[in-house]
Amino acid sequence: MKLRYALIGCGRIAPNHIAAVLNHADRLELAAVCDPHPERMEAVLAPVQNPAVQRFTDYRRMLQTVRPDLCAVATESGLHAAIGLDCLQAGCHLIVEKPIALSLADADAMIALAEQKGLVLCACHQNRFNKSIQKIRAAVEAGAFGTLLHGAAHIRWARNEAYYRQAPWRGTWAQDGGALMNQCIHNIDLLRWMLGDDLTQVMAYTDRLAHPYIQAEDLGLAVLKFGNGAYGLVEGTTNVFPNNLEETLYLFGTAGTVKAGGRSVNRIEEWRFAGETDPDGVKAAFSEDPPNVYGFGHTPLYADVIDAIGNHRPAAVDGRAGRRALETVLAIYRSAALNAPVDLPLTDASTLEFEGRFA
Ligand SMILES: NC(=O)c1ccc[n+]([C@@H]2O[C@H](COP(=O)([O-])OP(=O)(O)OC[C@H]3O[C@@H](n4cnc5c(N)ncnc54)[C@H](O)[C@@H]3O)[C@@H](O)[C@H]2O)c1
Repeated sequence: MKLRYALIGCGRIAPNHIAAVLNHADRLELAAVCDPHPERMEAVLAPVQNPAVQRFTDYRRMLQTVRPDLCAVATESGLHAAIGLDCLQAGCHLIVEKPIALSLADADAMIALAEQKGLVLCACHQNRFNKSIQKIRAAVEAGAFGTLLHGAAHIRWARNEAYYRQAPWRGTWAQDGGALMNQCIHNIDLLRWMLGDDLTQVMAYTDRLAHPYIQAEDLGLAVLKFGNGAYGLVEGTTNVFPNNLEETLYLFGTAGTVKAGGRSVNRIEEWRFAGETDPDGVKAAFSEDPPNVYGFGHTPLYADVIDAIGNHRPAAVDGRAGRRALETVLAIYRSAALNAPVDLPLTDASTLEFEGRFA
């Protein structure tokens, strides 16, 4: 039987969700979309040859009327928790766009409710499913790096004033955060995932250098310290002239060196392991060139969620994974605001702590 699916929020990232649903048409029935702006629902439904898809401007009415099995929330980030909790309360499995929420308390409430109700909760960090990243992760899990020593995540992108004016929630503390929380969180997630999740301390600077019309940072520089002795480096910005340059992840171990690059870590550019006989073959086989920085990851992420629902297991990128990415960014924000190292784990933190930081 197909799962009845509904998308809440029909903006910029919504077409990637609809494409993923269409790519899983054998398992998902696109039952409804929801957005306060009817024309956005029509735009996102343009590739869908199905007039039966219901449209709602009120997601609560949609939940009551349609009773979906699976919802995706792709609204502004500050609404993820409230809408996500309503979906879970209504008994829906949930894919929530990144970041999972803007406070750890909200993320914890979502994780607890999903567990209490036996529902799958997935944070949409789709780059984990890039061919390049899956290949690197397999090498980490196989111990091919030896001891991981350090890694680096560089996100050198550009966002102009038109991008922020298009959706005024972007760059605000209440609804978004800055470059690290919005654009860079994917690679920050990957860095932490690869280096062992057990993050113990963060030291950071953040600043708003070139976007005076947003509240939050457009540059973040951080050093991460892991419990296993490894270090991580984060350099994330939306200030690059004149457009997106690269999103790059380096990993250095005693027996391996890897670089994933391209616009959004879609290409393996260095693959050096003792005993590797065909590094160029690996680079060629595990590199892709997607049309934009969102990549091809939504479709395999949806495949994982469908499988997780069917097999009563957590999603590969579950709520706790989403919380770890959020915690990392909030720890960076706090370290920068305090001008001091911050120890992890954090029990409470929220973007609202930083209101007025660059005023
Ligand atoms: N995974 C990725 O690579 C990726 C890429 C871009 C954005 N995102 C995330 O996706 C989310 C949306 O970003 P965007 O750039 O598409 O934003 P957007 O502003 O283009 O779209 C958000 C949409 O949500 C709608 N919305 C607001 N309140 C709603 C409600 N109560 N019910 C239903 N719809 C509502 C808005 O009308 C708007 O159409 C953000 O959290 C962002 O961080 C993820």
